[in-house]
Amino acid sequence: MTRVPIVLGVETSCDETSAAVLEGERDLRGHVILSQDVHEIFGGVVPELAARHHLQRIDAVVDAALSQAGVGLDDIDVFAATAGPGLIGALLVGMGWTRAAAWARDRPFVAVHHMEAHLFGPVVEDSDAEPPFVALLASGGHTLLIWVPEWGRYHLLGQTRDDAAGEAFDKVAKMLDLPYPGGPAVADLAEDGDADAFRLPRPMLSAAQTREDPGYWDVSFSGLKTAVLHTVREIHDDGVFEERRADVAASFQAAAVDVLVEKTMRAVDLTGCRRVLLGGGVAANRRLRSQMRERIGPEGRVFHASPRLSMDNGAMVARAALFRYERGDVAPPDVSASSSMPFPGLTEALPDEFIPDARTASPSR
Ligand code: KG4
Ligand code: ZN
Repeated sequence: MTRVPIVLGVETSCDETSAAVLEGERDLRGHVILSQDVHEIFGGVVPELAARHHLQRIDAVVDAALSQAGVGLDDIDVFAATAGPGLIGALLVGMGWTRAAAWARDRPFVAVHHMEAHLFGPVVEDSDAEPPFVALLASGGHTLLIWVPEWGRYHLLGQTRDDAAGEAFDKVAKMLDLPYPGGPAVADLAEDGDADAFRLPRPMLSAAQTREDPGYWDVSFSGLKTAVLHTVREIHDDGVFEERRADVAASFQAAAVDVLVEKTMRAVDLTGCRRVLLGGGVAANRRLRSQMRERIGPEGRVFHASPRLSMDNGAMVARAALFRYERGDVAPPDVSASSSMPFPGLTEALPDEFIPDARTASPSR
């Protein structure tokens, strides 16, 4: 193939049905994201309903993306879909559909990891969003702090020990009688509140921690969530729930963002790299973006996608697939979806240059 490939990226890992047609690295010729509002009724994603809705809509979503792009399925060079992690029934719909479309045309199929796709979200819109960078990936299912010296080499520094950051926003939203998805609702309400109204804990941020202690890097949101629950009970008991819930939202958001930004800054200090990428749904949070920018300072860079490309979408899947395809990572015909797919290229080992004495201790490495 001499011209740049046209990639179809399909995303169905949770409650968005999305398809994108990407030509080369950045020409997003078609992109459709259909959110399933049915889950609002239940206050969270119902896996069985999510899978059903994907099945009912995937034909129309892919057709719409193709027609925006002015191409047909036969013009697609590389077919790609999110293969995991995510809700297995939901993943199987997008994977099965796309893999079959590739197979029928004897074209390559790329099985994309959802969180690697989030890493590639910002670069679709901004060609500077290239490694090296420290990445904070925060979604409804994951919170990962990763050092990315180059695409495909991912060093895991920290992760959540309990709830994901987005999950914490969603749970706090429920406590505050806000609709699902909770993140945007909490963030909107927080605009009207006082972030200093309630002094909530900043878990896992002790000055006594050292880089060798996993707690230095990991995050935990369950203690913060419990503190919010107590606060919500108090304002209910005092009969001031309506008046004060914006203050709770603002105070919670400030605590969660403080922890995320501080942990990310620890990685910036370790690596000496003042380039930060925010990915995943929580990267749409305005306070997170602005606090991160403030802390990194004018000499640094903070990359994040537009809100549309921060949430689950087919464009990031197509872009990650292009990278994998160019590396020859084409899936075998019997590839299947996996709710716990391992992150390709992710290691918990740090590069030698960040381990004290490693260079002198093991010159052969
Ligand atoms: O990446 P994503 O769209 O789906 C998953 O892979 O999970 O992330 C969804 C998560 C939800 O938990 C949602 O509440 C959260 O991202 N989220 C936000 C904001 N927008 C979405 N959290 C905080 N502030 C936001 N503005
Ligand atoms: Zn996601």
